[in-house]
Amino acid sequence: VTSGPPPESCKVYTPLELAAAMIRALGDDPEGIWLEPSHGQGAFVRAIAALSVPKSRIVAVDLDPTPAAADRLATTLRGTDFLSWASKTNRRFARIVGNPPYVSLSRLNGESRRIAASVSGPSGVPIGLGANTWYAFVLMALRVLERGGSLAFVLPSAAEYADYSADIRSTIGQRFESVHLFRCRRPLFPDVQEGTMVAIARGYGRGPCKPQRKTFDTAERLIEAMTGQGIGSPGSCLSGSKLNKDAQRLGDLAQIRLGGVTGDAKFFLMTEARRKAERLPLRAVTPVLTRARHLRSGVLTAAHWEELRRNEERVWLFNPSDAALRTESVARRLQLLEEDGGCRRDAFKIASRSPWYRTPLPAAPHGFLSGMGMAGPWIAFNAVPRLNATNTLYVITFQPFVEPADRFKIALALLTSEARHRLRQVARRYADGLLKYEPGALSDIGLPQMRQEADWQAIYENAVSLLLAGKHRRSRETADAYVV
Ligand SMILES: C[S@@+](CC[C@H](N)C(=O)[O-])C[C@H]1O[C@@H](n2cnc3c(N)ncnc32)[C@H](O)[C@@H]1O
Repeated sequence: VTSGPPPESCKVYTPLELAAAMIRALGDDPEGIWLEPSHGQGAFVRAIAALSVPKSRIVAVDLDPTPAAADRLATTLRGTDFLSWASKTNRRFARIVGNPPYVSLSRLNGESRRIAASVSGPSGVPIGLGANTWYAFVLMALRVLERGGSLAFVLPSAAEYADYSADIRSTIGQRFESVHLFRCRRPLFPDVQEGTMVAIARGYGRGPCKPQRKTFDTAERLIEAMTGQGIGSPGSCLSGSKLNKDAQRLGDLAQIRLGGVTGDAKFFLMTEARRKAERLPLRAVTPVLTRARHLRSGVLTAAHWEELRRNEERVWLFNPSDAALRTESVARRLQLLEEDGGCRRDAFKIASRSPWYRTPLPAAPHGFLSGMGMAGPWIAFNAVPRLNATNTLYVITFQPFVEPADRFKIALALLTSEARHRLRQVARRYADGLLKYEPGALSDIGLPQMRQEADWQAIYENAVSLLLAGKHRRSRETADAYVV
């Protein structure tokens, strides 16, 4: 197919909040497949994945061959013209969502243009070159939507008045159980004028219904209303609302792993005094946290780590860069025999890696946790470049679709009574009464849904300081106050 690249003007990406609200409004159908026909950089796919929908139940298509990080959250078909693909596929989808391109068909080239213009409208007549790509997308989406399925699209205001789409305006209500049009007086995107409406249609083939229209002054209001109560039929949104209420797993939002395994802590970990005594340059060491007691606040800053260093905690990992190997002190240290303070090089972990002196570390962790401790697990966010941890601690890395501000929200959700209750159920109990939380068990913890709030970081830091001061109940209450 000689479909050229998509025009630049159609690459407008949907704000995550809007995409997430649309996805939540549709809700998941645990047996159905989701389709995003113009995936772009994946705002919608991220929001779908956030509902714990696995990759195997999401198909994402885009003409643009350039990969995006969110591609791996779906079965992604890049370099694929949706209109052509949809006209050939036998697959049917339970949920179709997206923000299609708004390009006039007369501006498309070659094969894309021919295929788009020949898409049939509701009356069976091809829509022709006077129409727009978004319209061809909506019509094609209807062809691959399964009975009972739902769709949600961001559309231009033209959808409300353009002559070429008159047919669908008059017939859409006949086909669906409910149709809601959410219009906004201002553009829904920061720098595009046209995207002003969200259309949500549920229960395909179960019509007729009377389309409902609502107009809002701002995108925020529109988003609120879309996710609020009373939209659409209870039947079709039941599973979605249940999923919203009943928790996302922490493991769907972030990865929790052990910190680096040195294999010989005595050789690899050191205090500042020892580093200085051995004259090891900074490029031979990596700053690390090695103890639960090193986690002292909701956000671990350079000042905190400096204090650990001054207090002669073991905060350096011997981990020489290639350039450091030429330094005499480093070269000497690598040659030491075990009995002279050298490394236990035959230890399994060490012998099996190459080069033996490099401890594999998790890449740039967003935060640290301890699996032990009276207070129960909580996240100490990492504000120190290059700071890492060894395996007495866990490291957490949030998924790319989690916005930085939302990381604090998720961390706060872990401090709520609901999450604490679940945590106690999965803890391993030791004879001395100590509780231990494994990374897998932590990942499985369901988190309650939290309200919208501006300053998650400040709220989170406060809840952690209460926790660390032993005021466990007040910490939980602080977090509980933000549960939806
Ligand atoms: C308005 S952007 C929306 C991207 C994404 N859905 C979002 O909301 O962030 C439109 C996308 O459609 C893609 N596109 C344009 N023509 C297409 C076609 N014929 N088939 C599939 N994708 C197409 C573009 O590459 C672009 O990524």
